[in-house]
Amino acid sequence: MTKAEQLNSVAVLVPGHFNDHAVERIDRTFRRVKIERADPALVTDEMRRDVRAIASFAGVNAALMDALPKLELVASFGVGYDSVDAVHAAKKNIMVTNTPDVLTEEVADTTIGLLLNTVRELYTAEKWLRDGSWVKKGNYPLSRLTLRGRHVGIFGMGRIGLAIARRLEAFGLPVAYHNRRKVEGLAYQYHPTLKGLAEAVDTLISVVPGGASTEKAVNAEILAALGANGVFVNIGRGSTVDEPALATALANGTIAAAGLDVFADEPNVPKALLEAPNTSLLPHVGSASHHTRRAMADLCVDNLVSWFSERRPLTPVPETVNVKAAG
Ligand code: NAP
Ligand code: 8YV
Repeated sequence: MTKAEQLNSVAVLVPGHFNDHAVERIDRTFRRVKIERADPALVTDEMRRDVRAIASFAGVNAALMDALPKLELVASFGVGYDSVDAVHAAKKNIMVTNTPDVLTEEVADTTIGLLLNTVRELYTAEKWLRDGSWVKKGNYPLSRLTLRGRHVGIFGMGRIGLAIARRLEAFGLPVAYHNRRKVEGLAYQYHPTLKGLAEAVDTLISVVPGGASTEKAVNAEILAALGANGVFVNIGRGSTVDEPALATALANGTIAAAGLDVFADEPNVPKALLEAPNTSLLPHVGSASHHTRRAMADLCVDNLVSWFSERRPLTPVPETVNVKAAG
C-alpha cells in the first residue's frame, strides 16, 4: 500500500456540521465517517471497529472516547479545547490537538472592534443613520463612554491577550494583566489576583480559556471592583462569567457597559443581557472570517495528516503532550 492509500483507509469521524474546507481536505485524504452529533449513543458497530480519529468543532467527552476503542487522535477545531476532555484522553493514550496561533491576530482585531463598539456605540449610531433618525431627529447623541483615558486589564495574557495588549499600546492606553503566573520579560504591570487587577483598571478584557479554573471567575465581587466607569469585554469563554451577576451589575450601574462575544450557553443569550441598553453582543465571531477559519481548518487537518503519516502531532494540547503513537 502507498502512503496515500494508507491514509485513505483511516476512518475519521466528523460530528455534525464542520468547516467546508476541512471536510474537503479530509475527503481527499482520509475516509470520512459522518455522525449527526458527538454523541456516544449514535456510535455504530462499524464506527467502533474503524474510527481512529475525530475532527470536531464541538465537544468530545469521555463517553465518546470510551465508545471508540481504536481512537488515537482528537483534532479539535479552535484554540480553546475546554469542551474536549483532554485529561481523560491522556489517561487513554489519545492525542488531542488544537489550532493555536493561526487565529491570534483575527481574534485580537475582533476584540478591539468589540471594545470600541461597546464604548462608542457604533452599532446603535449606524442604526440611527439607517432608520432615518439622523434626518428626522438630528445628530446621534454623544456617547456616554470613551476609550480615552482608560486603563485596561487583560485577564489571560497568553497569545491572544498579548496581541490585544500590543494593539492597545498603539491606542495609547496603559495595560496591566492577571495570569496565574507572571510572564517573564513582559513590561506590563502584573497583578497576582484578578480582584487586584479589577481594582487597578476601569476596563477588563477576559481572554482566558474555559474550564474549572476560570468558571464564573468574573463575578459580582470582580465587577464591583471594576467600578461604575467599568467596561467589561469577554472574548474568551462564557463560562468564565457569572452572567446573572453581570446582568445585575449592568442594570444597577455597578459597571457602565459590557461587550460580549461568548456566552455560557451558546447560542442562547440571557434575556437580561439582550435587553440591556449598555451591552454590545456578538455571536462568537472572534475568529470567524473565511481567511482565518481556512487557516484553522488547515492546521486541524495537518495534525491528522502528521499523526497518521509521521506518527506525531503538530500542535498537541499540554495535557496530551506525552501521548505517544503506537507502532
Ligand atoms: P493561551 O495562549 O493559552 O493563553 C491563555 C492565558 O490565560 C495564559 O496566559 C494563561 O496563563 C491564562 N490563564 C489560564 N488559566 C488561567 C486561570 N485560571 N487564571 C488566570 N489566568 C489563566 O491561549 P490563547 O491562544 O490566548 O487563547 C485564549 C482563549 O481565548 C482560548 O482558550 C479560547 O477559550 C478563547 N478564544 C475565543 C475565541 C472567540 O472566537 N471568541 C477565539 C479564539 C480563542 P497562566 O497559565 O499563567 O495562568
Ligand atoms: C471558534 C474559538 O469559534 O478557537 C476558539 O477557541 O472559540 C473560536 O475560534 C471555535 O473554536 C470554533 O469551533
